[in-house]
Amino acid sequence: MILGVNVDHVATVRQARGTFEPDPVMAAVLAILGGADGITVHLREDRRHIQDRDLKLLREIVPVELNLEMAATDEMVKIAQEVRPDMVTIVPERREELTTEGGLDVRGLKKRLRDVVKVLHGSGIQVSFFINPDPKDVALSKEIGADMVEIHTGHYANARGKKQLDELEQVKKAVQKGLKLDLQVNAGHGLTYYNVRPIASIPGLRGLYIGHSIVSRAVLVGIQEAVRQMKALIESASCR
Ligand code: PXP
Repeated sequence: MILGVNVDHVATVRQARGTFEPDPVMAAVLAILGGADGITVHLREDRRHIQDRDLKLLREIVPVELNLEMAATDEMVKIAQEVRPDMVTIVPERREELTTEGGLDVRGLKKRLRDVVKVLHGSGIQVSFFINPDPKDVALSKEIGADMVEIHTGHYANARGKKQLDELEQVKKAVQKGLKLDLQVNAGHGLTYYNVRPIASIPGLRGLYIGHSIVSRAVLVGIQEAVRQMKALIESASCR
């Protein structure tokens, strides 16, 4: 199972002072040395953390999968066509949100998403949709032409006790639906060192995309070690 490390919040610390450090590009290099199979950045419309310069430099130096999270806007599609990440994950984006709060409204955005997938495929970029753990959204993603889906694990991560087990079941069902439809299926959002194992043990999952928890641990132990620890947890859970 691959681990895509999201370095957005390294940039958040930099932007807090409007300075040059810490550099998310340097963090990405160290994350790769720690075992990251991919690097993810979310270029937001308001540029609150990752900047255009970061994305361009990452494209130059990242030898593993570079995943650009972005809204399905004309501005972002143009940037993706220029920079050519290995894959794009289409996410919903609201200015006032603290982080991506829910999955895509796949039904409501159907026509727009179909157009965006076509353009990105034309540039040789694989496309993933970040969706809620709903088998209907998985089926629609396939119909629209996504290569992959990323199942939103935020509700699982925020729930406790029986409710968390129910949310885990929802994620499992969505994964199974995706595999049945021959989609590549990933999961992410809100995953931590304390809640990742049940998700990592879901059979057939291609990868996990994790940011905040790894960057948080990196403040204490360094990002190379933080990635190493997360990889070890995922590997021990996925081969059970
Ligand atoms: N996947 C997607 C689509 C996201 O938007 C984010 C947050 O940027 C993540 C994964 C990572 O979430 P977290 O930072 O909670 O690990």
